[in-house]
Formats: sequence, structure tokens, C-alpha cells
Amino acid sequence: MTRQRLYINIDHVATVRQARRAAYPDPVRAARLCEDAGADGITAHLREDRRHIQDADIEGLVAQARTPFNLELAATDAMIALATRLRPHQVTLVPEKREEVTTEGGLDLFHDPARLEAAILALRAANIRTSLFIDPDARQVERAAALRVEAIELHTGRYCEAPSHTPHLTALRAAAAHAASLGLAVHAGHGLTLTNVGPVAAIPECEELNIGHAIVADAIFVGLPEAVRRMRAAMDAARRG
Ligand code: PXP
Repeated sequence: MTRQRLYINIDHVATVRQARRAAYPDPVRAARLCEDAGADGITAHLREDRRHIQDADIEGLVAQARTPFNLELAATDAMIALATRLRPHQVTLVPEKREEVTTEGGLDLFHDPARLEAAILALRAANIRTSLFIDPDARQVERAAALRVEAIELHTGRYCEAPSHTPHLTALRAAAAHAASLGLAVHAGHGLTLTNVGPVAAIPECEELNIGHAIVADAIFVGLPEAVRRMRAAMDAARRG
């Protein structure tokens, strides 16, 4: 099986900083440590309410990350303008509700099609690889292919809430195979931990995982480089079978 990329979401380094409105810890420094420990890319979500990552963090990551930078954002005019100005390697479009604690579900690609299509066109014109964060659902996968984006990211949240409930895993496997057959690159993420990552890492079509909260949480106990290495090892072990 091909090597799977590990993109690390460093949002929650900024969460710790924003809890005190302090200048530290610095997410860019965390990104560099992750890269040194084997991350293939860095992910950050610039939320409209700026609850963790700030605009200056995005500028720092675009300028200083040595690996590809994946910027998650909602498809609003302001966010798309920011992305096309800063030109990260990749944008993942996500749904966003102000009151949610975290991204609760995937994008509905049938909702507000004019806005979504305009966002995708603007990103394509800026040469930014575009991924859509969706639930593992055949209709959404087919709509993503019709929108001619490069990739989808499958929302693994439902699976992570009940990893022993096989229908969730079956849905992820089916959506991954379907997407790959339509020419889409397949990413996955949300809620993945050392304990539940194996079955998702083992999905052959899944070429990239985006993992944040669990790695930053483990870093409190074992340090960030070791937390990254442990996740990398768990993914590699799952892919070896
Ligand atoms: N992928 C997407 C699109 C997300 O929105 C998030 C959370 O910001 C993640 C992956 C990472 O999820 P977690 O922090 O639970 O690993």
C-alpha cells in the first residue's frame, strides 16, 4: 500500500494561547516541530470567530512551513479572498456554525450551489488544490466529482464516536473507493486518535489523514515530536496490515 500522508492540525496550540490571550505557544513553532518529527503537511482552520487560529498565524504558516500547508475554511467571500491572497498549497472547504464546538458534519454540496461553485472557481484560478470535507455519502462524493475538485476529505467523526459500530467504517470504505473510482484524491479526518486510527489508516484509497486534537493532547504528556511519531507509527502499522 502507498505511504499515507500525515497532516497535523495545529489549531489547539492556538487554543492554549488564546485561553490567556498571550503570545505563546506559537502555532508556527509547533508546525516546525511537527515537520521535524515527520509530518507531511500542516493544517489549520481559520474560523470566522477567530477562536483559535488568527490571521497572523496563517501568514506565518504560509511563509514558514516547509511542508504543504492545508488551510481549512468556510466558503465565505472573505475567507476565499484571504485564501487567494495568501495562496496556501491546499484549501479544504468546511461547513462552519458559530455555536458548534468543532466541525460537526460534512459540507452539504447541494446547499447554496452558486456560492460553492464560485469559491471553487476562485481557488482553481489561484492554483490552489481544493478539497471538500464531506460525510461518507455516495451523493456527496458524486457531487464533489462533478464540481471538479482535486480531493475530498471524509468526515470520520461518526466512526470515531463509535469505532466498533461497523456500518460507519463500511460507509467510509465505500465512499473512499467510490471517490477514487471517480478520480478524486481521498483524505480523511476528525476525531482520530491512536486508538481508533488503524481501520481508517488501512483504507487503501485514503492517501492523507488530518489529525489535530489527539496529537496536541498527547503532546501534553509525551511532547509534540513523540506524539507525532506515535501517530505516524500507528498509521504505518495499520497499512502494513
Ligand atoms: N479535518 C477537518 C476538515 C477538520 O475540520 C478538523 C478539525 O478542525 C480535523 C480534520 C481534525 O480533527 P481533530 O482535531 O479531531 O483531529
